[in-house]
Amino acid sequence: MDVKVNDTREFVQVRPHQEGSLEDMWQVRSSCESHQIVALKCSECGLRPGAARVVGGADMPPGRWPWQVSVYQGSQHHCGGSVLAREWIVTAAHCVHRQLQASSWLVFTGIITRASVRQEDGVSVKKIIYHPLYNDHSLDYDIALMKLQVPLNFSDAIRAVCLPPSQQDLFQGTQCWVSGWGYTRPDQVQVTETLKEVLVPLIGTKRCNSSCMYAGELTARMLCAGYLQGKIDACQGDSGGPLVCQDKFAWRLVGIVSWGQGCAEPNHPGVYTNVAQLLPWIYDITEDAAEHMSKFEMDYKHTAKKQP
Ligand code: ARG
Repeated sequence: MDVKVNDTREFVQVRPHQEGSLEDMWQVRSSCESHQIVALKCSECGLRPGAARVVGGADMPPGRWPWQVSVYQGSQHHCGGSVLAREWIVTAAHCVHRQLQASSWLVFTGIITRASVRQEDGVSVKKIIYHPLYNDHSLDYDIALMKLQVPLNFSDAIRAVCLPPSQQDLFQGTQCWVSGWGYTRPDQVQVTETLKEVLVPLIGTKRCNSSCMYAGELTARMLCAGYLQGKIDACQGDSGGPLVCQDKFAWRLVGIVSWGQGCAEPNHPGVYTNVAQLLPWIYDITEDAAEHMSKFEMDYKHTAKKQP
């Protein structure tokens, strides 16, 4: 059903379904008398055009991970990140919490090779918000949002990733991808020139928290992915970047590169921020509730005045 609304008549009143056609259920209105509003906003995400410190990774064609960004501090690649919407980048709290001054950061989108980066193409950051419960020792709640100074122009190379549903059974063994410019060898302290990607299966938290693995260090805001034999993993410089899994509809940001004991070590897979557990916070910050609210309040006052 496609309901057309415009600037002066921007509400649709919906009635409980009784007899009659679907069209009888709704009426376009210029005000909202009931003051009960449900807002819907469509956005495209998680699709790539027709068409990594990642240890053991491969180079890739452009547009493969169009939501992947490089977060620069000054003139240095510092962390990865993902495009959530035209104005919002999601990254790890541990990447940014020591430097919350927005002007020290730049976000580079639509790139594969860092040599192609011109400083002037970096997008400035308006504000940085990290999760209020972020813990610098345990790395619990390792998530931060960056609001950009100017909205991104989406293209085949720059697109948003979808968020996961809040209730999703993440099955052990689901094959997901992690990507980034992080170290490609645990002993070589240098970020890579070209974006790398690797396939990593999800590992159940119970298993990952067992005594031979992370021995209870994982919280509900964390998840594991990788291999028990090691060799393939994210690493330093990949932090903040995406762990994405594909469902029937789209690519979803299931995890954010967060930490690990070493990189690609046996029995110590990568640990990721469990995005599905943090959705209420993400929606709260990005939904710009304040904007909608002021509009609603204006309307509300307007109708309220008419009443005796
Ligand atoms: N904390 C690292 C960073 O800041 C990421 C470490 C990920 N480690 C791992 N073994 N998967 O870049």
